[in-house]
Amino acid sequence: MTRIKAPGPRGGRSLVRNVVSWRKDPAGFLLAAAQDHGGVARLQLGPYLTHLVTDPAAVYRVVVENHRNYTRGRLYEQFKLVMGRGLLTSDGAYWRGHRRGVQPLFLSKAIGAIVPNVVEATNEMLDRWERSAADGEPVDLVAEMLRLTMVTLSRSLFGYDVDDTVPAVKQVVDAGLELMFMHGMISEKLPRWVPNARNRQIRDIQGFLTEFVATIRDNHSRTGQGPLVELMEAAVDPETGRRWTDQEIRDELITVYMAGHETTATAAAWTLHAIATHSWIDEELTGEAQRVLAGRDPVHADADQLTFAGMVVQEALRMYPPIWIYPRDAVDDDELNGYHIPAGSSVVLSPLVSQRNPELFPNPHVFDPHRFAGDAVKRLPRLSYYPFGGGPRMCVGNLMALLELKLVISMITQRFRLEPVSGAQVPYGHSIISLRPEGELRVRLRPRTRELAAAGGRS
Ligand code: HEM
Repeated sequence: MTRIKAPGPRGGRSLVRNVVSWRKDPAGFLLAAAQDHGGVARLQLGPYLTHLVTDPAAVYRVVVENHRNYTRGRLYEQFKLVMGRGLLTSDGAYWRGHRRGVQPLFLSKAIGAIVPNVVEATNEMLDRWERSAADGEPVDLVAEMLRLTMVTLSRSLFGYDVDDTVPAVKQVVDAGLELMFMHGMISEKLPRWVPNARNRQIRDIQGFLTEFVATIRDNHSRTGQGPLVELMEAAVDPETGRRWTDQEIRDELITVYMAGHETTATAAAWTLHAIATHSWIDEELTGEAQRVLAGRDPVHADADQLTFAGMVVQEALRMYPPIWIYPRDAVDDDELNGYHIPAGSSVVLSPLVSQRNPELFPNPHVFDPHRFAGDAVKRLPRLSYYPFGGGPRMCVGNLMALLELKLVISMITQRFRLEPVSGAQVPYGHSIISLRPEGELRVRLRPRTRELAAAGGRS
């Protein structure tokens, strides 16, 4: 095996500079690292050695070919504070058994069951938007999409309506996401029994989420609603034949909740922002919605016809992948594109950086859904485009998210034209977990029916 070190900024002051640049602008730092040093770039971040891996062949080696060598690692330990031991944070036989347990609900033949919930919750939101439009009040796409995806996910998978409790749940989820990221503070290193503010907050969040799950399970036992709860309560470990414990069910329900709604909401917010700031995309989408839906609510069978909506979503996931980085720890030495990856070091995959590679995506900073026309992605080297990850650990909810996103943006554009208040260039926020926009993404709403009336009924 080679001992050749990958290129990257080296030695002395650059170590400190790396950490400072990373803290200031993580996305900018990684984009520059790949541009300067290529698809496998060696980065020393303080005491941590990591490699930024963005070349498709190297990404393939990490997530498919040699995936057993790359475990969840240190960052995911932090996730356990909130999610416990679930699909995102576990490896090996435990992960395999649990993945098999929930998979049936996320297959293409099963996901159609979410459609009535998506349509109902979206219509509820759009009715609210009518009132905001009448009052001339802009709405914040980030907050609106978070609420929408929370409601659809809870109703579809848990059979439980969180609509009334959204603010409380959102506050806990936001605080939980923040906790899952290491800020490099001393308080993070203290043992969990120390009664400091951080540990108290962790306990409060864990307590809230445990109670939340208890309410969902209680609701399920009374109403029989909630296919994911049903599946988990009936799940049997294929090797030992034992049922999942209450703790396992708690951790998995929270994992799916945390992994599923915030990512989809972030993707929806960026997609709508792109529509609001590109009038030609809005026009093409409206035309498609008129042709396929003709003013009615969508049904599952419409999704295949909403091809342009699908391309817009794919392009938003290319430019603004919600999970824009994710790390792995190398168990044994490995070689990526001829460079040595030492055992015990980590690698960082970044869909954001990979998907802005100008050799694979010409004019990478331009939002152009037509690059996804036909089978364009299939012609790219595998793992050039991976907003949902790849290999055995690929996002379990990817088909569900794509279906929901397509339907939601088609329903929105059918009823409203969005006018940006926040401006066309919105920077990424600082969140390390998902790539949210900085601050709010405010849009003014123009109802289509009124627009048509003003234009004398012309479309
Ligand atoms: C646009 C929306 C979404 C994006 C961009 C996204 C992205 C991802 C990515 C990149 C991973 C792999 C992380 C890694 O390997 O470290 C992942 C895993 C996961 N996602 Fe998603 N996700 C989305 C929606 C969803 C939804 C709707 C659900 C469930 C309802 C979900 C549940 C999960 C779970 C449980 C995992 C862990 C899978 C495993 O390791 O077996 N995600 N997601």
